[in-house]
Amino acid sequence: MNHSFTLLPQENPPQKNPSAHPPLTPELLQTLADKVAAVEEELRRIVDAYTPVAFASSMGAEDMALMDLILKRALPIRIFTLDTGRLPPETYDLLAAAERHYDTRFEVFYPERAPLENFVRAYGINAFYASVEARRQCCHIRKVEPLRRALIGCKAWITGMRARQSSTRKGLARQEFDADHSLEKFNPLADWREREVWAYIRSRNVPYNPLHDRFYPSIGCAPCTRALAVGEDVRAGRWWWEAAETKECGLHVRG
Ligand code: ADX
Ligand code: SF4
Repeated sequence: MNHSFTLLPQENPPQKNPSAHPPLTPELLQTLADKVAAVEEELRRIVDAYTPVAFASSMGAEDMALMDLILKRALPIRIFTLDTGRLPPETYDLLAAAERHYDTRFEVFYPERAPLENFVRAYGINAFYASVEARRQCCHIRKVEPLRRALIGCKAWITGMRARQSSTRKGLARQEFDADHSLEKFNPLADWREREVWAYIRSRNVPYNPLHDRFYPSIGCAPCTRALAVGEDVRAGRWWWEAAETKECGLHVRG
């Protein structure tokens, strides 16, 4: 298997990703205004019924739009991110830039040291390429367990997932019960299209990860994310060596 791709800045970047630059037509802006109003209403309802509530932000495009929506309205929603230790440098830079932009500090959660050290000692630093099982174990240690800690004390949590992102998210509801954490879970952007996310970002000058302009619509850990080829599914660049049905990291278990 060839893992010789790189996330380093490219000297001759290809043409800009057109999905991240939709023409801001009056129709698109109107649809966006309607969807923003619906999300705002839903967030206020969530705050009223489920405080304390937290928003899990990976700093991806959807999450940056939702984060802007939350912070501009000063909604009392905790915002946290899970630092796996393997994120691309661009994501760390975005985290710092967003903290400056919104004059805030996000909660950052880390993996437990002992299980991570044991895993790396037993299976190697890049064990995730060896098998789906090893990859899931790495995701468990670096994301799933820290998420469990991040959600302690919450009555509900919020994600930036969209139904159209992948086959595993088809039919995603705006509200579901997360049996794994025994919490209500909200996906306010479930029915959003990619162009609406980008129309939000462009029309409001929201900071975003420059990797999106280089054909990375979905960004996770650096060794497990690559750029898309023309015509590929939005999440084809995540764990690209695996079949589409296994491409979830365990943060989002659906019944
Ligand atoms: S993943 O589960 O396969 O990594 P994806 O990157 O599409 O999912 O993100 C889906 C949602 O999961 C995000 O909108 C966010 O709510 C949450 N999420 C994913 N990764 C992180 C992270 N590192 N920190 C916080 N939340 C995350
Ligand atoms: Fe590990 Fe890759 Fe999962 Fe990140 S995405 S936690 S590096 S397997």
